[in-house]
Amino acid sequence: MLSIPWHRRMRPLVPFFLLPPLILASAFLFFSSSSPFSFPIIPFSPYSSSSSRFVPRVEDPPIIWSAPRAVEWRPCDWWRDSKALPSPPGKSNGFIRIDCYGGLNQMRRDLCDGIGIARLLNATMVLPKFEVAAYWNESSDFADVFDVDYFIERMKGFVEVVKELPEDIALREPFGVDCSKRKGQFDYVETVLPSLLKHRYISITPAMSQRRDRYSLQAKASFCRGCYEALRLSKVLEAKASNLLKAIPNPFVSLHLRFEPDMVAYSQCIYPALSPSSINAIELARGDRKPFTGEAARVWRNRGKCPLTPSETAFVLQALGFPTSTSIYLASGDGILEIEGFTSIYRNVYTKSSLLSGKDFDRMHGNTKAALDYYISINSDAYIATFFGNMDKMVVAMRALKGLYKTLILSRRAFANFTAEGLEGEELAKALREAHREDFVMGRGSALPDCFCEYKL
Ligand SMILES: *[C@@H]1O[C@H](CO)[C@@H](O)[C@H](O)[C@H]1NC(C)=O
Ligand SMILES: *[C@@H]1O[C@H](CO)[C@@H](O)[C@H](O)[C@H]1NC(C)=O
Ligand SMILES: *[C@@H]1O[C@H](CO)[C@@H](O)[C@H](O)[C@H]1NC(C)=O
Repeated sequence: MLSIPWHRRMRPLVPFFLLPPLILASAFLFFSSSSPFSFPIIPFSPYSSSSSRFVPRVEDPPIIWSAPRAVEWRPCDWWRDSKALPSPPGKSNGFIRIDCYGGLNQMRRDLCDGIGIARLLNATMVLPKFEVAAYWNESSDFADVFDVDYFIERMKGFVEVVKELPEDIALREPFGVDCSKRKGQFDYVETVLPSLLKHRYISITPAMSQRRDRYSLQAKASFCRGCYEALRLSKVLEAKASNLLKAIPNPFVSLHLRFEPDMVAYSQCIYPALSPSSINAIELARGDRKPFTGEAARVWRNRGKCPLTPSETAFVLQALGFPTSTSIYLASGDGILEIEGFTSIYRNVYTKSSLLSGKDFDRMHGNTKAALDYYISINSDAYIATFFGNMDKMVVAMRALKGLYKTLILSRRAFANFTAEGLEGEELAKALREAHREDFVMGRGSALPDCFCEYKL
């Protein structure tokens, strides 16, 4: 089914070839520095010559969303109908607190796991503890971010959640069960239940290596319900986020662009064309993780392991048919390297700091900012991410739940492969367009496990 691309209703399309030559020239200069490395790093220069000038052609549907989808991810029926599920146990085995660490979306992921575990153990949950890593520099707690009463209400029939503990245990700290050191097949009932029964109040941090394969159906359903239908932002935060949403011109794309020094360092990729100050920032963030070199770097890059730079991201968006006048909300933290590579091409870029008053913004914590990005991204017309991290997984799932299908994870692998093959300009754009259209049509690139099922359309 073809629908009118949304951007058509917005503004006339500005063809790329009408862009001021200066921008084209600077884009070219940016990519044309010669590589001191032994393997060819893709002198990716879409604007390098007039013969390879990138001009969108009329017969190509100008925008990715007009491709008819064959498959889409939706929440599975088995967990949405609570009547079909066994009712919760009459008797609780004790109280459990889920302790969550890291950034907002990582904490949420751990909380989701913890909800499933609580049900698996027939435990009662107390409110989770959100403890933020030092670099976030903040103290926001679960109740600062999420709506507590809503959470309790929505978990009814799945897991009992209480605000207060019974008097006899309220004064002591929970017994901490360490899940992190146990690898491989981990059975929560076998390992954690004895502690729960003995101490009656325990705390755990679910560990990533322990997956959900041994959950009962009810535990899986509780996980899905808790993760996707029981969490909404606290009233204060939602009011703030909703004001921010109103300030962005509609329709707009929420773009989660990841190219911070720590992320690039962590990727172990090298980008010789970056500015000395960016390379310096990456080196400072590097720690033990040495970048790959030579053949290993080439293979790594072709496997899609290297984050897209802001300029590369701008190129892919153009290839997919987004006019450079598109309104774009940058759902990213501060500190993206070489962001000019994007903003020199896409001019209507909005950020939290550009839309919120300075004082308000300065006082805001990392988690609060992440919550705003999350809210904007699950309510935007379209969501595009250059990576598939914790935030992206959460946003993609929530959008699938709401039936917002204009969601795309850009393919780093396709970009690496095509540029490694020497494609550039319109040829590169065409190849990227086809690869992404295929992903979009087949619902690939943003597959959601566990609570979501693939539906043929
Ligand atoms: C939890 O309750 C269900 C139903 O009452 C029961 O079948 C299951 O064995 C219980 N599990 C634990 C770990 O107590
Ligand atoms: C942490 O926050 C406090 C106030 O909230 C501020 O004074 C301080 O400069 C911040 N530290 C860092 C490293 O950002
Ligand atoms: C990229 O290259 C790798 C190996 O070099 C291959 O396995 C993969 O299928 C390629 N992907 C695309 C999108 O061409």
